[in-house]
Amino acid sequence: MSSRTLIRGGLVITAADETHADILIEDGRIAALAATGTPAAEALTADRVIDATGKYVIPGGVDAHTHMELPFGGTFASDTFETGTRAAAWGGTTTVVDFAVQSVGQSLRAGLDAWHAKAEGNCAIDYGFHMIVSDVNQETLKEMDLLVEEGVTSFKQFMAYPGVFYSDDGQILRAMQRSAENGGLIMMHAENGIAIDVLVEQALARGETDPRYHGEVRKALLEAEATHRAIRLAQVAGAPLYVVHVSAMEAVAELARARDEGLPVFAETCPQYLFLSTDNLAEPDFEGAKYVCSTPLRPKEHQAKLWQGLRTDDLQVVSTDHCPFCFVGQKELGRGDFSKIPNGLPGVENRMDLLHQAVLDGHISRRRWIEIACATPARMFGLYPKKGTIAPGADADVVIYDPHAEQVLSAETHHMNVDYSAYEGKRITGRVETVLSRGVPVITEREYTGHAGHGVYTPRSTCQYLG
Ligand code: URP
Ligand code: ZN
Ligand code: ZN
Ligand code: ZN
Repeated sequence: MSSRTLIRGGLVITAADETHADILIEDGRIAALAATGTPAAEALTADRVIDATGKYVIPGGVDAHTHMELPFGGTFASDTFETGTRAAAWGGTTTVVDFAVQSVGQSLRAGLDAWHAKAEGNCAIDYGFHMIVSDVNQETLKEMDLLVEEGVTSFKQFMAYPGVFYSDDGQILRAMQRSAENGGLIMMHAENGIAIDVLVEQALARGETDPRYHGEVRKALLEAEATHRAIRLAQVAGAPLYVVHVSAMEAVAELARARDEGLPVFAETCPQYLFLSTDNLAEPDFEGAKYVCSTPLRPKEHQAKLWQGLRTDDLQVVSTDHCPFCFVGQKELGRGDFSKIPNGLPGVENRMDLLHQAVLDGHISRRRWIEIACATPARMFGLYPKKGTIAPGADADVVIYDPHAEQVLSAETHHMNVDYSAYEGKRITGRVETVLSRGVPVITEREYTGHAGHGVYTPRSTCQYLG
């Protein structure tokens, strides 16, 4: 079977450029680009030609924060690596970086091996791993060095969830000191979980059990406080820091201040914080449970500050934190006690479309769309320029995007293995048409043509924003 494909006539958008160019793909990689209509472009030949006239040609999305099959609150995230990566492909994402979990008392190695076993042979698109470190001790610290060497170069710690994933400040400082030496990047879940647990207990004692109280007890100030503390601990350790799922404008202010001070501090937000709010958490008849995640959704006025942060580069990445739980049987575990609702939202399929809509709504530019969704996550987590751009030598992870197609997001039509959409009924202009993963068509004109096991494990270098 031949492996030369030509994509003709599209508007090629990267983080740096927008040009009408033809793209030659050979053996799974971008072989050449030539300005459309020029003799150089006319000279390109291939066995398969995709006409992208009137379409965008963009790098496949890089979603640096997913949780397929995550064990949480006595249940598991409902997307497997098979269903979740297939849904990602439908949404124009061609690489996910998922979180392997170390349980307390277990080695990092055992946790990582378990996640490899879940993913291997099952993924439609390429994948890498971060490591959740739940138990910082001398052995774990040594293991971090080994993981960095083999391509797991980022480690998530939690200032929330005491008794589960939680690390205290001493454990965080030790892990940060280690990452300052081995080149790893600490990813922080920044919420003061000790204080939150007190507020949870008090709310429940007052009979405040509805989903909306999840948003009230997990206060913006407690996100900002933890963000501040993480920044200063990283500064003391001489380590870089990446703060995950930022939702509070007060936390954005802490990040902006740190960056103004010149500290190597980075952060992501997620579509749910940009498009949803506490209004959703307050939906009646327990429907609010669909929107329970941590950090929680915030009042609408936070959204403008998140968009601003994305424009000013105080926030660098939009990831989904895809962690779906079905309403029936999973979210319902928290009826009568919001603290028992499994935390997380589905979204891996929706990110590229929602951010394209944000371009049309005037929040970000087209190139910034590609920067925050493809190029920067690839650089942040050591995958660039293999992933995240369209350039000679890069993997041919390419999306043909129709910027004029109209769609309505819905659980009826999505491909994620979850019984609701957090964006049910939302109108989007723009839609993924064709997706190539290393040159192989995974979505072909709105049909799934991929297969489980096409996606391969992709080891990563260290963060490419650090000298
Ligand atoms: O609610 C969330 N975010 N669930 C996934 C786990 C995490 O903290 O990222
Ligand atoms: Zn988290
Ligand atoms: Zn997460
Ligand atoms: Zn294949």
